[in-house]
Amino acid sequence: MNALLERRKPVEQIIADSLAAGDGEQKLKRALGVWGITALGIGAIVGTGIFVLTGHAAATSAGPAIVLSFVVAGIVSALAALCYAELASTVPVSGSAYTYVYATLGEFVAWIVGWGLILEYALGAATVAIGWSGYFGDFLHATFGIAIPHALTTNPFEGGILNLPAAIIILLISALLIRGTQESNTVNKIIVAVKLAIVAFFIIIGVQHVDPANWHPFAPFGVSGILRGAGLVFFAYIGFDAVSTSAEEVKNPERDLPRGIIGSLAVCTVLYIIVSGVLTGILKYTQLNVPSPVSYSLIRIGLGWAGAVVAVGAIAGLTTVLLVMLYGQSRVFFAMSRDGLLPAIFSRVHPTFRTPYVSSALIGIVVAAVAAIGKLDVVANLVNIGTLAAFALVSIGVVVLRRRSPDLKRGFRVPFSPVVPIVSAVAAVALIVTGLPPETIVAYIVWLVIGLAVYFGYSRNRSKLRA
Ligand code: ALA
Repeated sequence: MNALLERRKPVEQIIADSLAAGDGEQKLKRALGVWGITALGIGAIVGTGIFVLTGHAAATSAGPAIVLSFVVAGIVSALAALCYAELASTVPVSGSAYTYVYATLGEFVAWIVGWGLILEYALGAATVAIGWSGYFGDFLHATFGIAIPHALTTNPFEGGILNLPAAIIILLISALLIRGTQESNTVNKIIVAVKLAIVAFFIIIGVQHVDPANWHPFAPFGVSGILRGAGLVFFAYIGFDAVSTSAEEVKNPERDLPRGIIGSLAVCTVLYIIVSGVLTGILKYTQLNVPSPVSYSLIRIGLGWAGAVVAVGAIAGLTTVLLVMLYGQSRVFFAMSRDGLLPAIFSRVHPTFRTPYVSSALIGIVVAAVAAIGKLDVVANLVNIGTLAAFALVSIGVVVLRRRSPDLKRGFRVPFSPVVPIVSAVAAVALIVTGLPPETIVAYIVWLVIGLAVYFGYSRNRSKLRA
């Protein structure tokens, strides 16, 4: 085991490598400022979790106490966000959790994290695309009376052939990402503004129609229900960490990355707590287990026009989540490839667009295929466990790096280290154990075993650190 943990890339070398890779071949373009980063964060965070899963979690797990589930999941995420902020401000290079762990816990654990991040980003994108497809179908039907045939919107496990809209949106977003960071980020900023306006719109309209009687009973499924709800709606917070994958495209990463990470998460936490409170106040929680609970609640109280507006906003919102998830995945592969753990083709940068185009294209095709045939709940749970595992390891990484390189320049420091990072790691593991179904944990272990086979069969022998 010791030998496994030994192969570590010193953080000083990681930073130097990223600076030295300046001859054009592997250099990304620095285009992002603090607003771009925060928009990237909010664009990644507000999506399927709040628009789709809230209703399901309220109806089946937590009841109106879904508000507390959001608080619990928000605390776990906030603790991790502090750790991400410190590492992102200390090791401002592409690759996020994977890179931080490479620097601290070594290549073997880094591989496990990178492998888990595939669940978060690639599978996360597939999950969101499936949700997007549902909203898109509803929108076409409600607005233009067009119904896409069931066989072309449903995976083969649920009686269809494939989910065509889900696959198409993945391919379109992948093409946009290949075109370039600056362009994608401008589109992202506009859509994020629309998305926030829609959420505010829902709150303002909805709060006037809250019937406090709907909040009773408040916690019909007790504490365990609240925790199961937290395990599910944790999905809603995923994404702030994706921001740190953009480090090499940020103009002033030491200062702006921590601000972007913590700022975007703070905004979303407040919004989620209010939205879930309003939602369960408008309709009885038992009525919320539908594919589009937020717009549905408005339609049910006779505000069809408002419901339609929210539905359009949700489609836009889900689109930016896809953008950041696919972006994050290509950047993680970029970093893993640069370290030799994945084939060199994943870090090839396009001569004109300066983006890792081969990586983006391959990911787009594979994720589109998964979105076409995947089952929503199964993939969503896997995304959550992969992400929580990465959170735990990143938190430990903060403690290790403080020990190993105490003098490194840190743009941001987690308060009360090592207590806060340790609590963060424990909280992430606790949410896995108390909030996620056992089958998810088993599936994650299987995924891990496959990852280990790839590591020992391919990556370990091709690592740049081998010599
Ligand atoms: N947090 C993102 C969402 O809710 C992944 O869709």
